Amino acid sequence: MTHLILPGLVDGHTHLRVPGGEQKEDFTTGTAAALAGGLTAILAMPNTTPPLATVQILAETRQKAQQSIYCDVGFFAGASPAHLDQLPYLANDTVALKIYLNDTFGLLRIEKLLSLMTCFEKWPRSKMIAMHAEGTSVAVGIGLAAAYQRPVHFCHISRKEEVELIAIAKKQGLAVTCEVTPHHLFLTEADAMRLGALGDMRPKLASPTDVEALWSHLDSTIDCIATDHAPHTLAEKQSPNPPPGVPGLETSLPLMLTAVKEKRLTLDRLIELMSTNPRRIFKLTVQPNTQVEVDTESPHTLSNDHLYTKCGWTPFAGMTVTAQVRRVILRGAVVFDDGHPNKILARPGSGQLL
Ligand code: NCD
Ligand code: ZN
Repeated sequence: MTHLILPGLVDGHTHLRVPGGEQKEDFTTGTAAALAGGLTAILAMPNTTPPLATVQILAETRQKAQQSIYCDVGFFAGASPAHLDQLPYLANDTVALKIYLNDTFGLLRIEKLLSLMTCFEKWPRSKMIAMHAEGTSVAVGIGLAAAYQRPVHFCHISRKEEVELIAIAKKQGLAVTCEVTPHHLFLTEADAMRLGALGDMRPKLASPTDVEALWSHLDSTIDCIATDHAPHTLAEKQSPNPPPGVPGLETSLPLMLTAVKEKRLTLDRLIELMSTNPRRIFKLTVQPNTQVEVDTESPHTLSNDHLYTKCGWTPFAGMTVTAQVRRVILRGAVVFDDGHPNKILARPGSGQLL
């Protein structure tokens, strides 16, 4: 057994489904899944029902979270055309603003240029703006970063031309950053065919050429690995109109460490992508006395059994990984121990709101 000690890892893109989607995930199951995946801080997306786009819904949601979270949780504010006046107040209790430019699960969308400009004018400059931008929308985001001279973070970049355009923008000195998901690194459109609705998410799985481009930019252009953990129940996925999205909190680190073993990236780079960079981008302080202990020589097949996510399935079922999270220590307390009958040892509510 090879024992590896990592710093507390961060997922900058998690859907926890509170309020309104608790049949898919809740604060207890989602933060347990995070710890089991070696993640000690996660940032929750605002496309809930109703969305985290008003001060009242945000306050109620944070209150619920504080009672049950096992790891640290920060929230994104959602940009909603009807509530743009609330943006400055939402900023007080969120880590960043999320703007959806393209269609995906949930109703949050910004379509009008004037609304986009309002977001950039009203959101405090000290906090990040993250965008769901696909295809030409990436150019829109880069244009706004240039016009307003402020940082923009691109979520789940998946196509060759998108990552290449971001590389060009970075070279020009623009403060743009981006993340990729494990599913866009380890699966392709062929897997989407095989998996059906269980392989459908936004952005959709891409071609082998796109996947190759993401891997080749992992050492340079790409700043973070983010899971885009987007749980939906099997019943919802098997319905006539299945929602897009796949879970990923528990599989991200084992997959990425397997890639380290295969020398597709270095361990130092993995730590930058999964801890240092997301902390820098979203201004999250280092959690003191916190570490993740991993056995890097524990080959096993990923499966739908024994997952903490409430949805109870993974698109990576059947894939072999070599790493297994053994223990997680958060602020000096053992919060996850693979060898303990209960495994999750944190107290509900012991996670901190970011
Ligand atoms: C996400 C969801 O289910 O909330 N779905 C997805 O396919 N990624 C929404 C999103 O992040 O786009
Ligand atoms: Zn998402």
